Amino acid sequence: MTRKLGVHDTRSHASTSRTARETQILAVNELTQQDEAIERAAAVVRAGGLVAFPTETVYGLGADATSATAVAGIFTAKGRPAENPLIVHVASVAAARELCIDWPREAELLAARFWPGPLSIVLPKRQIIPDLVTAGRDTVALRMPASNVALALIRAAAAPIAAPSANRTNHVSPTRAEHVQADLDGRIDLVLDGGPCSGGIESTVLDLSGAISGAGPPSVLRPGLISAEQISATIQCDVAAAANESLPTTSTITPDACSPLGLPSPGMLPRHYAPSVPVDCIAKDELDHVAALLDESNRVGWLTFGESSVPRRNGLLVIEMPEEANGYARRIYAALRELEESGVDRIVVSMPPCEPPWRAVRDRLQRASASA
Ligand code: TXA
Ligand code: MG
Repeated sequence: MTRKLGVHDTRSHASTSRTARETQILAVNELTQQDEAIERAAAVVRAGGLVAFPTETVYGLGADATSATAVAGIFTAKGRPAENPLIVHVASVAAARELCIDWPREAELLAARFWPGPLSIVLPKRQIIPDLVTAGRDTVALRMPASNVALALIRAAAAPIAAPSANRTNHVSPTRAEHVQADLDGRIDLVLDGGPCSGGIESTVLDLSGAISGAGPPSVLRPGLISAEQISATIQCDVAAAANESLPTTSTITPDACSPLGLPSPGMLPRHYAPSVPVDCIAKDELDHVAALLDESNRVGWLTFGESSVPRRNGLLVIEMPEEANGYARRIYAALRELEESGVDRIVVSMPPCEPPWRAVRDRLQRASASA
């Protein structure tokens, strides 16, 4: 279903009425962006189609955020439940202000400090954003991504772009165009292939809507590369950390511990970002777990973290993970996908330390290990 194209191919490809469609791939470059490729992708967005594009965090699956019909295509292609709202991507602070009823001082300070960048800010929405985008909520998550390709696409489309991560729902987010193809080939119109994402995990989601209404302090709904401490220092007030930060470090998390009802953000469900293979997170002193799984004839994929000696055993596939948080984040999803594709029965992850720089990475690992 995939065709790799030069930018001179003129066949039309935008379509929202079908799920099965031919997915085209166009190479783009962060430094030069290639106007023709961007213009082709923007034309697909303007025509109501679906374009996967790189951002500095993960690949997004974009559609015109002002068109309910176009956005409906995102939910269909991903198999995403309608109650999970989408982030709307903009190319300037001015564009963000046009999409929300209130742009408070905190938003101004945060945008000045962190945009373009991996911070999504939840604010009361304006009518121009269809209810489908926000899953019926009266708030919208806004983000200006730090990717030249993404910004060029948004500008050329002349519309805000609603974009979740470009994976099938509940699978790990894509950090390369090949990951997008693996999940969505034949379901979307176009992939802009800009190479690997530099950040590797999704943006921090910060809710400012409670702070505006006086209902509560700004709160981090999803930890990411920008920490609660950085946000707090920028806006000079307390910030509530993500509710799941006290979740245990091993795979004992149960979905029942956290019901979807009443959660401020559906992305806070325990299981999210998960490979199809069961994942066990282990602490430093639980290495026998790997041996026990191998003894039971399981093929095991192991993401190690600074283990001094790793046994060589049949059925064991090891990926040594970086010992620095940003490097780990950049690698995490590709590593999980590699192990999944290698056909292992179980993935074991040696957990990085329980320290602030590791909060977002630990969050994603805990979610990957939560039972379905
Ligand atoms: O880095 C990212 O954020 C990537 C790139 C493509 O920008 N996008 C991304 O989107 O991760 P998605 O849909 O996979 O995750 C969006 C998260 C979800 O947890 C969703 O529930 C939450 O943001 N969210 C979106 N709008 C919201 C709102 N109005 N209120 C609360 N949470 C919201
Ligand atoms: Mg996602």
